Amino acid sequence: MRILSGIQPSGKLHIGNYFGMMKPAIELQSRGQAYLFIANYHALTTVTDPEQLRADSRDVALDFLACGLDPEKTVFFRQSDVPEVTELTWLLSIVTPMGLLERCHSYKDKLAKGIPASAALFNYPVLMAADILAYQSTVVPVGRDQKQHVEVTRDIAIKFNNQFGEVFTIPEPAISESVAVVPGLDGQKMSKSYGNTIELFGDPKEARRRIMRIVTDSTPLEDPKNPDTCNIFALYRLFATPEETAEMAARYRAGNFGYGTAKKALAEIYERTFAPMRERRAALASDPDRVEAIMQQGAARARAEARKTLDAARRAVGLA
Ligand code: ADP
Ligand code: TRP
Repeated sequence: MRILSGIQPSGKLHIGNYFGMMKPAIELQSRGQAYLFIANYHALTTVTDPEQLRADSRDVALDFLACGLDPEKTVFFRQSDVPEVTELTWLLSIVTPMGLLERCHSYKDKLAKGIPASAALFNYPVLMAADILAYQSTVVPVGRDQKQHVEVTRDIAIKFNNQFGEVFTIPEPAISESVAVVPGLDGQKMSKSYGNTIELFGDPKEARRRIMRIVTDSTPLEDPKNPDTCNIFALYRLFATPEETAEMAARYRAGNFGYGTAKKALAEIYERTFAPMRERRAALASDPDRVEAIMQQGAARARAEARKTLDAARRAVGLA
């Protein structure tokens, strides 16, 4: 099994990103050969400030390494360090019908949001297909919004193989249904666009202040409370062991337990979880050469694989 996923570098990560995407991606490293990359070519379709792109790409690398990504196990790299994928994008675009790309929701959604319709934005799924196919990936864990792109990848790979011979492995999407949507301070989905986030590596005092602002109902202190409808509990259980979760639920149901106490418990468990990672992140941030060496080492491993696939594709179409 070869697992591959990419993440766009897009600003400060929050605990919704952590539990929804980073933690599952990091856990994959023990289940098979995992490839994980920072999709900076893709980010260029929306990020226009070069300094911003550089800073965000560096931050995502630090965030993943601090959260436990092991670069010996996972091949961790920047997309742009494997330029072979851009040539492969061209070869794949030969068998990609316009209609297939015109039907992509993510493209239509971005136009609806007012993002200008560049050729790169339109071709985004073909580049994503090249990312996936270059490493002969079998499983692609993605959020629901990216599932269609993996289906497009399958269509492209099947068409290429039919026309030019068997070059690509056909991948499967893996949509994680088990990871529920992490709620934000106001109970909506936690998202940087809603301003309701708790950051992973922001100022710890600010994180605590934000936890104290989580919206709750107005059940009086003495009354029993329902943990299953409470935002504080929904966040607490993500961090806690099953025993701690059961104990907290019992305290809710017993009554005489205030939301303020629950918030303090959440703030403590947040700190217990992220303080060691914050230290690790600071150590890495102060050693940029080491981080760069890790990224270069990942790129070298990824590039060797991508080269093999690209050469096979070039031979198949009659280039080499
Ligand atoms: P945001 O909504 O803050 O802009 P992104 O859309 O950049 O976040 O999401 C990046 C990744 O984090 C995706 O894989 C997405 O599924 C995951 N993610 C983001 N917010 C949440 C959330 N509240 N709960 C679970 N997963 C999330
Ligand atoms: N488009 C994906 C996103 O925005 C990121 C990505 C790029 C990706 N290439 C990929 C994900 C290949 C999985 C496989 O989330």
